[in-house]
Amino acid sequence: MSKKNWLDGNVKRIAKLGRYTKPEKVEGAIKLDSNENFALDREFIAGVTAEAARQVDVREYPLDQLEQMYSQLAKYAGVSEKCVAAGSGSDQVIELLLSTLGSKRATVFTPTFSYFINRCELHGIKVDQVPLKRDFDLDKQAFLKSAKKADLVYICSPNNPTGNQLDRKTIIEIVDSLEGKLVLVDEAYVDFADYSLSRDATKRDNVIVLRTLSKAFGLAGARVGYMVANEKFVQIFRSTIQSPYPISTLSLAIASGVLERASYVRETIETIRKERSRVAGRLSKIDGLEIFRSDANFLFIEAGRNYQVISSALASNGIIVKMLGNIAGHKGCMRVTIGTREMNDKFLQCVEGTL
Ligand SMILES: Cc1ncc(COP(=O)(O)O)c(C=O)c1O
Repeated sequence: MSKKNWLDGNVKRIAKLGRYTKPEKVEGAIKLDSNENFALDREFIAGVTAEAARQVDVREYPLDQLEQMYSQLAKYAGVSEKCVAAGSGSDQVIELLLSTLGSKRATVFTPTFSYFINRCELHGIKVDQVPLKRDFDLDKQAFLKSAKKADLVYICSPNNPTGNQLDRKTIIEIVDSLEGKLVLVDEAYVDFADYSLSRDATKRDNVIVLRTLSKAFGLAGARVGYMVANEKFVQIFRSTIQSPYPISTLSLAIASGVLERASYVRETIETIRKERSRVAGRLSKIDGLEIFRSDANFLFIEAGRNYQVISSALASNGIIVKMLGNIAGHKGCMRVTIGTREMNDKFLQCVEGTL
């Protein structure tokens, strides 16, 4: 085969793969589709960003800022700073692990974060998908049966798009029965939940916990994600797998600025958790909607035959949520971010006024 054909063939193969579609930017919309954190005051983030811009000299490569951020992340996550490594969003950390570890076969439960499945496929990793139960709990036996045939296992908890965090004991049992395989526990939404496996990960050699500043810390645009794992793996990741300067000087300074004020972030997390209960409570009173338990900063709603009418009402009121349609045996589903009280009220009024 000529070189040209080799390239053409590969480009055609890649063009056919599933891909993540970015949401469209709609000016002035009430944005409840991407699980960003608007409850964190805009002025607060703008202040930290302005201060960061004054501090840094972007003519220089970031030399010691990454280490400074590691110590702050470690303090926040309650682990040693030797057990933390960061990337340009947890997306990039996932990408690096998939492209370097040489995995051939992965097990995931579904529905889950589709980016992970897409990236596995891009790297030629076969993905076995084990359906969650109707209430989105895990069928542990079926999952383990599949996981034993894989070399890589992905557990998103709290899960996107369903919102529920899996039982801690169940995940630990799964991890401990998969010696020699890698279990990736994606905890992008863990700050809104009840427990993290971060410390457990530092004591084991087969589990990596993925976390991010994109959600609870309101820094989706700064692109800062991190992993927590055992010291030995983190050392190799930092020195050999990760590129030398994965996060810009400015983003590092912004992240450090927000981490310095973690107590304020914790307060807003508490506000979001309260809002999550309030919004779920109000929606549960509406006939024809099913609201699922969430441990994240969003709710999974099954609207069934009310899906279209809600979808049109939201669109005409400039409210954007993630429309999922029929998924995992559930009809007319949507995922709605918990925003500020004002945003949530507009969403509630729109749905209540429609049904
Ligand atoms: C489950 C999950 N993991 C990872 C990510 C990626 O986060 P980041 O912004 O850190 O790349 C997301 C973003 O939506 C997510 O939902």
